[in-house]
Amino acid sequence: MISIAIDGPAGAGKSSICTRLAQELHYLHIDTGALYRAVGLAVLRQNKNPADPTDVLPLLQHIHIDLRFEAGEQRILLNGEDVSEAIRLPEASAAASAVSALPEVRAYLLEQQRSLARQYNVIMDGRDIGTVVLPQATIKIYLTAAPEERARRRYLELSAKPDCPPMDEILQDIIKRDEADRNRAVSPLRQAEDAVLVDTTQMDQQQVIDHLLGLCRERLGL
Ligand code: DC
Repeated sequence: MISIAIDGPAGAGKSSICTRLAQELHYLHIDTGALYRAVGLAVLRQNKNPADPTDVLPLLQHIHIDLRFEAGEQRILLNGEDVSEAIRLPEASAAASAVSALPEVRAYLLEQQRSLARQYNVIMDGRDIGTVVLPQATIKIYLTAAPEERARRRYLELSAKPDCPPMDEILQDIIKRDEADRNRAVSPLRQAEDAVLVDTTQMDQQQVIDHLLGLCRERLGL
């Protein structure tokens, strides 16, 4: 099976870009952030503290997460309930960030991710795919952009909504999440030694897709 690992910080556009790449290459796009978000949501729903291992760890044995794919689009089920929308709420983001720092949570989700890569050709996006989850991935890409540019893109995305936060708040949130992802003790966000660095600060989405498709096709001999 072929696996393409795409890592990088929050707001680098990984998810939408990976969706398009997966359509072009006919691979399955697996958004691993959704798994951490589902665990975070499960903890919140039990009124427990996602940052406290004594709260989180006993819950793990009661959390069952399934991924389904409908017309190539990933849906995520938490104990049988489709929570694909609920995991996008800001409180689920914060809870995901907290639970993702716990080694037991990472270990709990690891085999599920590896098992998918054994069964399908995948484009898997996350923070530690090239370094920990799939160290033997066929292609590794580290996608990043300057924090100010990532904040600007997120602002544009959210600006249609009535409760859009100010740009500065979005930037501060991105900087805080970057720091948490990079400095955690287990599986911190970092570029794998054999990953190709793609800085998209000066590129629009189509340019990024064309660039990555070219890179993948060349490496895969397509
Ligand atoms: O990519 P995202 O924003 O949906 O990720 C949600 C959280 O999960 C984020 O704080 C980083 C964490 N995460 C992780 O630690 N490892 C991954 N492979 C994917 C996400």
